[in-house]
Amino acid sequence: MSDIQDIIEIAKRRGFFWQSSGIYGGVSGLYTYGPLGSILKRNIISAWADSYISIGALMVDSPVIAQEDVFRASGHLERFTDLIYECSSCKFRQKFETLLEGTGKGVPSSAEEAMKIVSSSGLKCGNCGSDKIAVTDFNLMFPVGTVRAGESRLFLRPETAQGIFVDFQLLIRQNRDKLPLIVIQTGEGFRNEVAPRNAIIRLREFSMGEVEVFMDPESHPFTPDSSKEPVNLMDRDGKNMALPVSDALSSGIVADPAMAFFIQKTHRLLTGLGIDPGKLRFRQHRRDELAHYSSDCWDAEALMDDTWIEIVGISDRGTYDLTRHQSHSGKSMEVKIGDKTFIPKVLEPAHGIDRILMATLVHSRRVTDKGYVVMSLKKEIAPYKLAIFPLFKKDGLSEIAVDIFSRYSKIDPYCIYDESGSIGKRYARQDEAGTPYCVTVDYQTKDDHTVTIRERDSGKQKRILIDDLVSGPVLGNKYVISAFD
Ligand code: GLY
Repeated sequence: MSDIQDIIEIAKRRGFFWQSSGIYGGVSGLYTYGPLGSILKRNIISAWADSYISIGALMVDSPVIAQEDVFRASGHLERFTDLIYECSSCKFRQKFETLLEGTGKGVPSSAEEAMKIVSSSGLKCGNCGSDKIAVTDFNLMFPVGTVRAGESRLFLRPETAQGIFVDFQLLIRQNRDKLPLIVIQTGEGFRNEVAPRNAIIRLREFSMGEVEVFMDPESHPFTPDSSKEPVNLMDRDGKNMALPVSDALSSGIVADPAMAFFIQKTHRLLTGLGIDPGKLRFRQHRRDELAHYSSDCWDAEALMDDTWIEIVGISDRGTYDLTRHQSHSGKSMEVKIGDKTFIPKVLEPAHGIDRILMATLVHSRRVTDKGYVVMSLKKEIAPYKLAIFPLFKKDGLSEIAVDIFSRYSKIDPYCIYDESGSIGKRYARQDEAGTPYCVTVDYQTKDDHTVTIRERDSGKQKRILIDDLVSGPVLGNKYVISAFD
């Protein structure tokens, strides 16, 4: 079974995520996060937000719905499209680029050009083999009607970024009219994907963590530090290399110091979340794959099932968005800094939260010699930090365990009590849930007020006094730390 398929099964069994509305057959690309996944997702979002708030970012929370004018100005109405083909014989629909796979032909820029390729190459429906296929531009945005008949249409946002650009002047004021201005926003984006797949990897409703960095391109503080840690890079010609980001900048592989800074920052964030640095690379977009607003883009990609999957895109949006909103709204998007009046440039690290979550699960999964799965999630992002068990329900052991649970959960709510099934099954359950520590109350507890504490990753068990365990959260607890030194 593939790593991703295995994670999808564990995710459903343990409550990380599952397809929504399964009782009605579900809709592909719509997923629900369960009890473990919701906490994990929140922990990832918090780590992301903290890493930006700590460098002075402002956070906003704009609506998921916006009026047509916003997306006309942003270019999404006209250009946020995929070329698809539809077969009039079997009604099958697929991305046109999928039909081109293996033909050696590049993706054309318009439906007309695509139709010419269909006729000259005799392309046929990938499902039924019919030649009755028609290529069209398919807009990925979801319309949501109008407030009143005849008024401007409303759309679900395909990115959170536009909610930041439209309020740029209000935000720069919050920043005391200074640049750089870093604004972050997390929330849902919506795209009517032609082929949602791999559970939370390609969703119709997905979670984003977007960062818009507004700057004066000639004067900003962003440049990578001299860390010697190598980062995997693949340039737009497909050349792979592993080198410190500062070297990539000085040798011109990454042209812009701000881009280099955010590649380094993103690398630290992702590896800090548990993404394997050996299975992480930054790939520069080819010119023909850049989004309509982007002049350069480096994607952070995680290797899953032998495929590199984009999890963050760091895009140079230049002055595209603010210039477009200025001309469409008639409102100035300029800033006056000293004696210079200009439209700031924007660099955007855009994080796909669901995909980051999937990568942390795929990269933290290991299988023991006995065939059990352990999710070695970073302790800081694990949904629950501690599980508390009685060895048996009888002989007063449950009562002691419940008492420890009630004392400990006042200090750290992210602990869980479990008395069902054999002790081995309970350990296995928590290993799959990624819980870093399990505590068991046994007969010796009655004599000496100690419990065993088991560390997920080493499997080692130590005895610790109950009073020491409940003296602080298990992650920073000096007695726990010294027990496993
Ligand atoms: N704002 C980045 C994206 O739409 O992917």
